[in-house]
Amino acid sequence: MNDQEIQEVRESFGRCTLKGDLIDRFYEIFLESHPDIKPRFANTDFTKQKELLRKGINIAILFGNDKVLGRKGIEKLRESHKRTKLNVSPSLYIYWKKSLLQAVSEYDYQYNRELETIWEKLIEKTITYIAEGYENN
Ligand code: HEM
Repeated sequence: MNDQEIQEVRESFGRCTLKGDLIDRFYEIFLESHPDIKPRFANTDFTKQKELLRKGINIAILFGNDKVLGRKGIEKLRESHKRTKLNVSPSLYIYWKKSLLQAVSEYDYQYNRELETIWEKLIEKTITYIAEGYENN
């Protein structure tokens, strides 16, 4: 993704904080988006999880821009989410994507089709990479 696109995503993510807690809204949508998801977070400390996800999104933004730190961070997530660890089935990533797009659309007052396309590109790149590591040892 080019610098312009990454800048658009950063600004959009920044505008979301003006409205309130985007990550709260994300989890509200995500946990209800597929029956297999909520049970996976039954023992999760959401105070910590929300902070981790906020960092996760920032890592995805760096990854989108092919930054070394982004690549390293996404590699860790790919490692933690694979079959032998958190065991997140690749089929669930689409719900992650839809939930984040929905939450951003509600929170960024400047949201439009162009931004949707850019966010989608970033999320696609990220989830494809993480999901491809599912069967890694
Ligand atoms: C690109 C998509 C995703 C990102 C960026 C992401 C990010 C994260 C981060 C940062 C953590 C905490 C650190 C870690 O354990 O590595 C985490 C944990 C977790 N993620 Fe994801 N995740 C993604 C997709 C998913 C999906 C689709 C599921 C489906 C159920 C999922 C389930 C979990 C679970 C169960 C945990 C552990 C929670 C706990 O510690 O109780 N993740 N994720």
